[in-house]
Amino acid sequence: MAVPGGARADAAAAVAAYLRQHESKDLLRFITCGSVDDGKSTLIGRLLHDTQRLLDDQLAALELDSQRHGTQGDTIDYALLLDGLAAEREQGITIDVAYRFFDTDKRKFIVADCPGHEQYTRNMATGASTADLAVVLVDARKGLLTQTRRHTYIVSLLGIRHVVLAVNKMDLVEYNADTFESIASEYRHLALRLGIPEVACIPLSALKGDNVLQRSAATPWYRGRTLLERLETVGTSREVPGRGFRLPVQWVCRQDQEFRGFAGPVISDPVSTGDEVVVLPSGRRSKVARIVTADGDLESALPGQAVTVALVDEIDVSRGDVIAAASHPPEVADQFAAHLLWLGESPLLPGRPFRLKIGPRTVGATITDIKHKVDVNTQEQLAAKRLELNEVAYCNIHLDQPVAFEPYADNRDMGAFILIDRQTNATVAAGTLAFALRRAANIHWQHVDVDKDARARIKHQQPRCLWFTGLSGSGKSTIANLVEKRLLANGYHTYILDGDNVRHGLNKDLGFTDEDRVENIRRVAETARLMVDAGLIVLVSFISPFRAERRMAREMFAKGEFIEAYVNTSLEAAEQRDVKGLYAKARAGHLRNFTGIDSPYEIPAQPDIVLDTSANTLEELVEELVEILSPPG
Ligand code: ADX
Repeated sequence: MAVPGGARADAAAAVAAYLRQHESKDLLRFITCGSVDDGKSTLIGRLLHDTQRLLDDQLAALELDSQRHGTQGDTIDYALLLDGLAAEREQGITIDVAYRFFDTDKRKFIVADCPGHEQYTRNMATGASTADLAVVLVDARKGLLTQTRRHTYIVSLLGIRHVVLAVNKMDLVEYNADTFESIASEYRHLALRLGIPEVACIPLSALKGDNVLQRSAATPWYRGRTLLERLETVGTSREVPGRGFRLPVQWVCRQDQEFRGFAGPVISDPVSTGDEVVVLPSGRRSKVARIVTADGDLESALPGQAVTVALVDEIDVSRGDVIAAASHPPEVADQFAAHLLWLGESPLLPGRPFRLKIGPRTVGATITDIKHKVDVNTQEQLAAKRLELNEVAYCNIHLDQPVAFEPYADNRDMGAFILIDRQTNATVAAGTLAFALRRAANIHWQHVDVDKDARARIKHQQPRCLWFTGLSGSGKSTIANLVEKRLLANGYHTYILDGDNVRHGLNKDLGFTDEDRVENIRRVAETARLMVDAGLIVLVSFISPFRAERRMAREMFAKGEFIEAYVNTSLEAAEQRDVKGLYAKARAGHLRNFTGIDSPYEIPAQPDIVLDTSANTLEELVEELVEILSPPG
């Protein structure tokens, strides 16, 4: 062996010692908001440069850490340090946030540097979602700008409790105390209005170094801390203690017959063996039997520690459940008021289903309505039917299963969520739960004795939903009509839901915008479901132009009950027939949002049946459908 064992052991011990020191030093994550003009790069540059002693070692340690635990091969796995939204990058948010690292004797720091430009709201939210503190930069010559208000609003929305207003370029205003004071006082008003609990205003010059690391002789009237002192001393605790411990279960480990443990981070308060716990949302109770870590069992674990907990009783616990102190459990609900920042390229349309991820739990979710959107520059509340990229709104949200949660203002770990598109798997929104809507808790399912099977049996048929989709004038209604006539003649109980007819009654308040079409389909799918439950064979004939809503409709029915029939008539053919004269009107510009002309039709990817009106006669198509709907015998 070329290297003597002793030397190698020494090196290993030194690295281990360094890592221990590195682990025990506490970490402050902060973001910087402002633009290059405000001197942001200069300020970050100065912080990094003037404190840089350990930077290289720090990176080396991180690199080592990544190799031990990381999932990124040899590259540094920043996700080890940056959890939450930042780790969702793979989910499809393209972000433009640069993370930098530095440390001092007291603390280590991660700075998320967020671009200041308006269209980068989502980048800023990404950086801010895990931050303990925000440094908001202003130019002393300019004071508060629209951008300052926007950034501060987002900071408040994401529950960052500590803000430093860095009034930069004081050298260019002759270190004038009055200039500083008037900016600081205006900002304190803004922060108060937005509910930011702690603001420190610091006069500085990033270029000259005044009050960044060292106290400046040029501002004898300023008695507060320097920027670095502030960063080194501000509290990093993320939530209010004393609310009882929580452990969102990230995975269930089953080592052998004997051992079943539930792994996840300890949140809010410490946990000890013997503690009474409740598992949510099921509500089952038990006690903590063991707290297991890689370094052996513990008597108790602190917030921030990742542990595996074993319970005294054998109760059902799954990934995504929350184990919580029985004395102070979080609430469980399935309807909420929430703030939402829309990150999707295509707009949010209320009523469309998404997946919602809160901690390790994923459930189905829909935004039922947008209460108002908020102008991020002025915080003005505006009416809205849809949300575009980077817009913020206050909404009602409905989940298809209950989840354990806490309002984001109380606990960022238990109140933040993201929405995921079901088709593309991209993250399309980041949100925070405000409170649970009580109305849901007061509505229960009423038991009825006669069920769908009984209703169907008496009709001697199998209830189905035959869902026709296709362009206007493609032949949906004509085919549906002929099929119903044949079924009726054969003694079946049927009903036709046709777009043109339903839009005269149930849906007469809806037009042809994308959001109205989403609601149109949601209502008709619910109606069809009721009719199938009544034992009927239901023929639905709606353009239903979007895949997401057709999929939503399918998922409302039992397997095999929903049949999607795509009436594949080309736009040219439908336009040529133009029975209602609507294509001509649309081409002439007298009819807006017409499907196929200036409103999209998404062709079904996997329909159950394709009906080709150019290759087959109507009789052939009808025959095929009647056969499917009326089983032999
Ligand atoms: S859907 O897109 O929301 O499913 P639906 O099937 O209810 O549409 O209604 C479509 C019918 O409304 C068409 O067959 C046509 O007769 C009529 N119509 C009126 N305006 C439009 C429009 N802008 N786009 C499509 N259809 C329209």
